[in-house]
Amino acid sequence: MLETILRDAQHIVVLTGAGISAESGIPTFRDALTGLWAQFSAEELASPQGFRRNPERVWAWYAARRAAVAQAQPNAGHQALVRLEQATPRFTLLTQNVDGLHRRAGSQHVIELHGNIERVRCSQDGTLHTDWDDAAGVPHCPQCQALLRPDVVWFGEALPTAALEAAWDAASHCDVFFSVGTAGLVEPAASLPHVAVQCGAVLVEVNPAETPLSAYATYTLRGAAGAVLPALVDRTWDGRDGERG
Ligand code: OAD
Repeated sequence: MLETILRDAQHIVVLTGAGISAESGIPTFRDALTGLWAQFSAEELASPQGFRRNPERVWAWYAARRAAVAQAQPNAGHQALVRLEQATPRFTLLTQNVDGLHRRAGSQHVIELHGNIERVRCSQDGTLHTDWDDAAGVPHCPQCQALLRPDVVWFGEALPTAALEAAWDAASHCDVFFSVGTAGLVEPAASLPHVAVQCGAVLVEVNPAETPLSAYATYTLRGAAGAVLPALVDRTWDGRDGERG
């Protein structure tokens, strides 16, 4: 039974995608109607080539998303993962989301695979910058004058090496691996659940829709993360957050 497996687990890893933030009002990418890539071009807005072609357009899009993220609040799904972390001896949260909502909810051990939209860095030397004015257009690096860009991973770019290595290591050494709110289509994150299964982990998928990963899952929990995850944590620990047994 999943509840028993969770209570006995020494290391739980959770991989999240845009679906866990959907209930916070942040659109996913691939929803046929409301998904960001249904309305905007990923090539134009989320690639180094798109940024070189039209930095103003890319900057304005990220500034609007950053403003939307700042207004959003973590939801019951994010909060349930905080409780899961507190109840588990070792817990690693891998997220493809750039919205920072897991940390704002209170999750401690978070690895951001695709960066964070709240951070900005120099497109030339990678230095992080905290002081810029969105109203003044695309800002420049005060040191080298190159354009600043959001500190997120774009299509065609490598993931941060340390984050990817830590994610691979966690996936290889966990008892239970959750895939929550991700379509499982973007590599290398999409491989992480398979690494976990190959290393013997129980795979749990939380998603209202079927994905390519569903066939490999030991447990598929169909529904919104904000409903499924709190109910699972309640059932498993019977209201005794942080206690084992
Ligand atoms: P997608 O938009 O591809 O998938 C979102 C998933 O969330 C779908 O499988 C939905 O069924 C599911 N979903 C929707 N509402 C949900 C809810 N309330 N609870 C649980 N699941 C729900 O988003 P990602 O898989 O995160 O990368 O996309 C991966 C990467 O592709 C993103 O990080 C981004 C994107 O392009 C880059 O920008 C590099």
